[in-house]
Amino acid sequence: MKEELEIWEKTSDVDLITLIQKANTGRELFSANLMEILEIIKTRRSIRRFQSKEIEKEKLAKLVEALIWAPSAGNLQARKFYFVFNKESKEKLAMAASDQKFITQAPLVVVGCTDDEIEWKYGERGKTVYSICDVAMSVQNMMLLAVEQGLGTCPVGAFDEKEVKEILNLPKNLRPIIIVPVGYPAHKPSAPSRVSKEKVVEFIK
Ligand SMILES: Cc1cc2nc3c(=O)[nH]c(=O)nc-3n(C[C@H](O)[C@H](O)[C@H](O)COP(=O)(O)O)c2cc1C
Repeated sequence: MKEELEIWEKTSDVDLITLIQKANTGRELFSANLMEILEIIKTRRSIRRFQSKEIEKEKLAKLVEALIWAPSAGNLQARKFYFVFNKESKEKLAMAASDQKFITQAPLVVVGCTDDEIEWKYGERGKTVYSICDVAMSVQNMMLLAVEQGLGTCPVGAFDEKEVKEILNLPKNLRPIIIVPVGYPAHKPSAPSRVSKEKVVEFIK
């Protein structure tokens, strides 16, 4: 195994692909990684009860990495994230979100915002579509990384935008899109059903 890892580290990407195609061990390693990603996607659940345990600094740093490495339209990255730890601010955010109290329970509450000033380049569509996609892709990255780190999250979209802007004292160009409480889960919800693949996806050949 040690030898395999050394080969892995020394080999260029192109060689690596050939190596994977040639060697059974490589193929297995490759498909094992793909399985893990799908597993993370499928095991992620919206968590609405959290332990009081704080999130370690190293894990916070990884959440930030996951946010910033998401794709964005024209790589403009028209998004900004607030990491709220302060109890009073979290309580106010929960109130602004129709009093969804579980938001207060989480040690960290992330607020994802679009930035109109950055997205001006793509006109109306940039403002109303691209920037929201930018934020959503970042947040999904972060939520999946959270699962891998043993953390739970829940995207919260039901809130009063004006109130959230006031609580965080946001500049005019920032629009809050999603609130995401993050913390160690205190429950294990079962998976809500999904509509059939046939209904959601149509293959055009
Ligand atoms: C855009 C968006 C807004 C949401 N808003 C809320 C919300 O305000 N409160 C809440 O408890 N869950 C909210 N959710 C979570 C959904 O209820 C949840 O994703 C859905 O029921 C599927 O469950 P799962 O995430 O465990 O797969 C939201 C999800 C999305 C994507």
